Amino acid sequence: MARASTTTARQKSSSSLDTLVEKLNSFSADNYWDLGKFLVEKVVPTALKEGIYSEQILKKMAEVPGFKFPFQMLKQCQMFYTYYPNVEKKPLPEIFYFELATKVNDSKQREAYEKMAVQNKWTISDLQKKIRDDELARRSDERTQYGFELKEKTIWSFDIPDPRFGKSGVKGRLPGQIVANALFYYTKPGARIVDPMAGSGTTGDVVEGTEFLSDRKVKMYDIEPADERITRANILQTGIPEETASVDYVFLDAPSEFFSQTNGGAASAAAAKAETLLKFKTITREASRILKNGGRVSIIAELVTGSFGVIDYPFEISMLMKDLGFVPIGKVYLPRHGSTRSKVIHTEGIKPMISDCKELLTFEKAAIIS
Ligand SMILES: C[S@@+](CC[C@H](N)C(=O)[O-])C[C@H]1O[C@@H](n2cnc3c(N)ncnc32)[C@H](O)[C@@H]1O
Repeated sequence: MARASTTTARQKSSSSLDTLVEKLNSFSADNYWDLGKFLVEKVVPTALKEGIYSEQILKKMAEVPGFKFPFQMLKQCQMFYTYYPNVEKKPLPEIFYFELATKVNDSKQREAYEKMAVQNKWTISDLQKKIRDDELARRSDERTQYGFELKEKTIWSFDIPDPRFGKSGVKGRLPGQIVANALFYYTKPGARIVDPMAGSGTTGDVVEGTEFLSDRKVKMYDIEPADERITRANILQTGIPEETASVDYVFLDAPSEFFSQTNGGAASAAAAKAETLLKFKTITREASRILKNGGRVSIIAELVTGSFGVIDYPFEISMLMKDLGFVPIGKVYLPRHGSTRSKVIHTEGIKPMISDCKELLTFEKAAIIS
């Protein structure tokens, strides 16, 4: 019995859907307002009567074979009629209100645009341009509210280094926006930061030049200091001149030579890999020593490819960190900009590609549980 009544309800619901679909198909595709009116006055009440949301019925209809309106368009028409049920009494042509209803969420903002359009005798293109420009400006304000371009996803790509951070012309200089994002995500206010291979002093510039990060305290070292803020130290020989367990964050940007490609065969690749990993073992052990429990280290690493295959340094370094008792907490991709070309034509072995993405790996020193 129950089954029979369910079947009848289903049949009834599919036949009312068919009727609505048929009706809607008779609308002209550019008659947005009439379409919206029909959706609001007929389709939505039917959906509610059947206990489904209006969005669900629009989706269902859009899936019916032969139905001519895509879901997104139905939604736009519904919004258009909802916001402007008296569009014919409005001072501007209909298309302006369709644009406003579908592009501007805030009702006050819609009114403001309408006023501007009337006063300045805008064309529809003027209105579209103004809405687009305002949206771009709003997004850029959001991204730069911390004083640098904040990235919200795990690919941090910057075409041009922020000129405020680092010295142009210094080899290996990193776009300061990368350091700023790393400090934003991986350090807390007041953190003690060490950059043991500071190069052009980008980390110091970011902290000094960004109000949001200015409460961090930075110590910088380099084998060849670029200015007086950077203390001379060969960290591979003397270690990092900081007390044990005194630091919250280490930013490690080793020279690209550490990852340089070997053009020899498998034996020389294995030797180069062993040498690089030995250097990283020394540096990461030092980073681990100076970090407090719960402290973090970010390391820039990259893949190396050659006719011998691949040396996956990000993976190898992750293994070193694991052995030191660190847990991974972040992985970000840093695409390279500018052209890089292979100089060697390989005749044997695997045809190598050039890695065009570095990785920023971040690890946390696990607290020792006693
Ligand atoms: C890739 S650069 C760092 C660039 C820096 N992040 C910037 O934005 O300018 C690597 C730096 O490591 C330094 N370096 C290389 N070997 C070192 C060592 N054994 N001890 C300390 N610094 C070293 C180099 O002098 C170079 O400045």
